[in-house]
Amino acid sequence: MTERTPVLTSRLPTVGTTIFSVMSALAAKHGAVNLGQGFPDFDCDSALVDAVHQAMRAGHNQYPPMPGVPALRQAVATKIEAASARRYCPDNEITITAGATQAILTAILAIVHPGDEVIVLDPCYDSYVPNIALAGGKAVRVPLTPGSFRPDFTKIAAAIGPRTRALIINSPHNPSASVWSEADMLALQELLAPTDVLLISDEVYEHMVYDGALHQSAARFAGLAARAFIVSSFGKTFHVTGWKVGTVAAPAPLTAEFRKVHQFNVFTVNTPMQHGLAAYLQDPTPWQQLPAFYQAKRDLFRQGLEGSRLKLLPSSGSYFQCVDISAVSDLSEADFCQWLTREIGVAAIPLSAFYGDGFDQRVVRFCYAKKDETLRAALARLRRL
Ligand SMILES: Cc1ncc(COP(=O)(O)O)c(C=O)c1O
Repeated sequence: MTERTPVLTSRLPTVGTTIFSVMSALAAKHGAVNLGQGFPDFDCDSALVDAVHQAMRAGHNQYPPMPGVPALRQAVATKIEAASARRYCPDNEITITAGATQAILTAILAIVHPGDEVIVLDPCYDSYVPNIALAGGKAVRVPLTPGSFRPDFTKIAAAIGPRTRALIINSPHNPSASVWSEADMLALQELLAPTDVLLISDEVYEHMVYDGALHQSAARFAGLAARAFIVSSFGKTFHVTGWKVGTVAAPAPLTAEFRKVHQFNVFTVNTPMQHGLAAYLQDPTPWQQLPAFYQAKRDLFRQGLEGSRLKLLPSSGSYFQCVDISAVSDLSEADFCQWLTREIGVAAIPLSAFYGDGFDQRVVRFCYAKKDETLRAALARLRRL
């Protein structure tokens, strides 16, 4: 008998190892401070771990209800209402997901039919375009304005056609750290009003908006909320990226279709984490304090770079800081990141990795969701530039 593994025709032929894995491996190899991949190097609140432990001890270890533990959906509805003044019904408008990643894939699979178009704004998070391809859809890439990363509504309007099923937006934005203003959201609302285009609003950095600004959730705009899947992530909000628990809030008819896919995609999300999060959310202080917590890290990192030849771009939201490298090096963004990791000992991510066409504007991204001592160690090295 011969053993033969059949050769596959790839569903995602252009997808390889992500830049995040490549840079993390390189950082480990060279003992570099890893400001590449976007995750905290500090631990979460021990009260949250205790709450999960308690849930496990209390026997919450079997399948929960398919859309999520009711107490958590209730707590999420309360939190959204506090932050955005919109009441979503926990029974039929909020679903607990295995992180934002599953939320976005499931939303896309629920709404995109083969041949449909979905508009994404470049640079964008790396899962969107492969997700659209898996649904048999076509990603239509519209660039954000280079430099400012502002949405260009003329370009977005021009991209909308008869096959456009949805638009994906992301504010606060990974990788650029820009945030959409109220005027931006109002302009989008007006643009989409005469259309049947759905909105996927990736708001995983919702609590990382700085300098007193308000996060402009799609939930705050009736015309957007009526057509939106609003995606959030406890991984980002509570420093537990490895737990992979997120949420989707959407009007009942959209949630009904979402749950049809969710049911056969993951069915349920791990039970003790949901109970632990539900208990922890009874106190709003942790998420209310998050902007001040991350703003202090942003300021520490920016002040530390002020004397260097790296030109700081604004960091209005998220936990990323982009810098222009053109005064320091002639290398491409990708080559610069490799060089920086090897020779200076700090890992960063090239912005070109977030573009469909590899557009290189001489800008790289650092993540400042790190202990102050990690940031200081990186700054001591970066100041050599
Ligand atoms: C913009 C954006 N969306 C979604 C995700 C995924 O979130 P989760 O870890 O909850 O799946 C990330 C994580 O880096 C992100 O930056």
